[in-house]
Amino acid sequence: MDGQTDADSPRDWRVTSWQRRPRELFALDGRIAVVTGAASGLGRAIALGLDAYGAHVVLADKNRQGADEVAAELKQPALVVETDVTEAASVSGLVQAALDRFGRIDIGMLMPGINVRKPALELSDAEWERVVDLNLTAMFRTAREIGRVMVSQSSGSLVLMASARALTGGQTQAAYSASKAAIVGMMRCLALEWAPHVRVNALAPGYMATPLVQQIARDPVWWKATQELHALGRVGDPEEIVGPALFLASDASSFVTGTVLAVDGGWTAGR
Ligand SMILES: NC(=O)c1ccc[n+]([C@@H]2O[C@H](COP(=O)([O-])OP(=O)(O)OC[C@H]3O[C@@H](n4cnc5c(N)ncnc54)[C@H](O)[C@@H]3O)[C@@H](O)[C@H]2O)c1
Repeated sequence: MDGQTDADSPRDWRVTSWQRRPRELFALDGRIAVVTGAASGLGRAIALGLDAYGAHVVLADKNRQGADEVAAELKQPALVVETDVTEAASVSGLVQAALDRFGRIDIGMLMPGINVRKPALELSDAEWERVVDLNLTAMFRTAREIGRVMVSQSSGSLVLMASARALTGGQTQAAYSASKAAIVGMMRCLALEWAPHVRVNALAPGYMATPLVQQIARDPVWWKATQELHALGRVGDPEEIVGPALFLASDASSFVTGTVLAVDGGWTAGR
């Protein structure tokens, strides 16, 4: 829909006939989804959600056993590919394995990320590089290689995992926040370069109860303060990322690209 009207047949601006039937907006039947970081946390939840809505999921993770365990929970035929996204050859191998098995990639959900929570004055170069290498450089590499497939097939939806920390700073968050903000900048550029057929968006969750935040959960004072960051007064459950992820993956978001969807219980609304 480009908004142009034909002078001989003026556009009817009412909704008179649905391009896509509302009940089918979220259906993913037969679509092929690659989820990196699928063995745990938000990636695992999203893989289960994609599968429940009919997609075939390629589960990519450096944790092979964890990915196998998620695969055992899926209903649709799936593929597990042991992948280290910090290795270029491993990412190429993942893309090739997905194409060999399914012939195309319709959805990419790119998850892996780590945090080193330290005051900036104590953060070493090596720690900075470890965070940026996984959160940003590997994210770009994976987006580029999956994006190459999507551009060549003239369709696809790519979702990059950022964070509410992309939208707001925080003490001890210098490397993480920088890497996540950079993902948002990169996402906007990819969305512009790969339009109109490939959509690229980012998710920006607040704190969600996954292994990534175990360090915080072990400290009752820190955990309480973390819960209170969110207007809803609590951290999210991993399955609460699934609806927003399915929205961005599916035709329900067919006019959405280059945007950041905050899934943060209202945290950044107050910033
Ligand atoms: N949990 C939160 O509160 C939260 C909030 C905002 C953003 N995020 C982001 O969501 C993403 C997922 O976080 P999570 O909480 O599910 O973490 P998690 O630790 O539960 O899962 C991360 C997964 O990524 C995999 N992984 C790590 N390095 C990898 C590599 N080099 N190659 C392939 N796989 C690798 C791990 O094996 C694991 O399965 C991260 O990018 C994180 O920054 C999480």
